[in-house]
Amino acid sequence: MTGSVFPTTPLIRLANCVLRPYHASDLDPMCAAANDPDIVRFMRDAFPSPYDREAGLTWLRICHVEDLPPSEGAKALPPAPTAAPPASKVPSPDLHLAICLLDGTFVGGTGLRAMSADGTDRYSREIGYWIGKEFWGRGLATEVARGLGRWALSPASGQLTADGQPLRRIEAGVYSENLASAKVLERAGYVREGVRRQGVIKNGQMQDIVIYGLITSDLEASQ
Ligand SMILES: CC(C)(COP(=O)(O)OP(=O)(O)OC[C@H]1O[C@@H](n2cnc3c(N)ncnc32)[C@H](O)[C@@H]1OP(=O)(O)O)[C@@H](O)C(=O)NCCC(=O)NCCS
Repeated sequence: MTGSVFPTTPLIRLANCVLRPYHASDLDPMCAAANDPDIVRFMRDAFPSPYDREAGLTWLRICHVEDLPPSEGAKALPPAPTAAPPASKVPSPDLHLAICLLDGTFVGGTGLRAMSADGTDRYSREIGYWIGKEFWGRGLATEVARGLGRWALSPASGQLTADGQPLRRIEAGVYSENLASAKVLERAGYVREGVRRQGVIKNGQMQDIVIYGLITSDLEASQ
């Protein structure tokens, strides 16, 4: 596709896709792709279902996207306060990125988030990803898991602990029935480390969760 411009600077360019910050124009394609029971079933409960326009707007606000259209029913609400809410003193280390084809087509989402609040996991991030069904089976998730993981473990990425140290570990937790995602992680070089039996609750059901990890020495071993 010619004439397509990325709305924001691409952050990570891979062979077949780009990981970049979300933009307001992602709202419609994101909601259309994410509103799918075959995606929701393998995401954590925080992933909305149905994934409607309001859910999409809420997510893009979390991602600090500017120039969003108003929420439906916004006219019925009282005017927003003019003073900005107090900014958090500690910036979030979480990173939320849209996955786009090289022609700019939105295909899904990925990101890294801090593991726990007590600081003992501060050298780790948890990776997450989803791909719109229309784009499954093209190797995109494998490319994203490999590319984002390796990038995040590189000191040049700027993904550092609060005390300025490079990350040492990227972790993924996969429901034991999610064979596609397990395959993605294994192909991307993550090591299957074990099962947290009944580790999470999903739709009121306890789920075994398989833990995969990628650490810096895995990268050295695969070079
Ligand atoms: C899991 C997911 C991200 C994979 O995306 P994708 O871009 O299709 O992944 P890839 O093409 O890189 O690889 C998927 C592989 O799993 C295989 N696969 C798909 N369904 C499978 C199943 N039920 N059992 C075994 N393998 C399966 C595919 O055939 C493919 O392997 P192949 O290339 O050898 O044919 C996508 O299905 C998705 O978004 N699922 C819902 C959300 C989700 O599970 N997110 C991850 C949470 S941990």
